[in-house]
Amino acid sequence: MDTARKPLDVIALYPQVQEIRDEKLRNAVIEIWQEMWEMSAWDDPGALPTSFEIPYPNLPHTQCVVAMALSVADAFKKYHGIEVNRDHLIAAAVLQDASKVVEYEPGPDGKVRRTAIGKNYGHGFWCAHLAVQKGVPHEISHVMLTHSSSAAKFPDTLEGKILYYVDQLDVIGIHKDRWTKHLMIAKRD
Ligand SMILES: [Fe+2]
Repeated sequence: MDTARKPLDVIALYPQVQEIRDEKLRNAVIEIWQEMWEMSAWDDPGALPTSFEIPYPNLPHTQCVVAMALSVADAFKKYHGIEVNRDHLIAAAVLQDASKVVEYEPGPDGKVRRTAIGKNYGHGFWCAHLAVQKGVPHEISHVMLTHSSSAAKFPDTLEGKILYYVDQLDVIGIHKDRWTKHLMIAKRD
């Protein structure tokens, strides 16, 4: 671990973290980001791509995901009176892709490659395991582990479903629509 590494200004990158009311959770989100940043091989958080297929930087992707998730929560509240757990939504949105700083690294040829963490664990696992260690509610780790279309499980909670869809929507905006419709008959229960 490179302890001389300059700490990341998590609040500057994601000011919505300040809106997390639970102080313990707010501090945990910042600590988790710092721990992963210290482990990562990246010098600039803006240099990390969203994925191999999506070279667009992950930082504005995640910033847009955080903003869209909160806008959806606001609309649910305004038009339907539906309350979303904003603490959980902000924490999960800010952390959902944070693992990428340790899942990817710049290779010697300048191309991005997977780290041992990226090769051996599912996307979001590293962040989720740090969150569990710090006592972050399991519901937030659940969102981190289910937010990706590559995850085996679909999110169970409204916060998780909001994040799932706005994440995909942002990818459609910056990259392309990767979804196709398959018509089939399926037993519902
Ligand atoms: Fe992700």
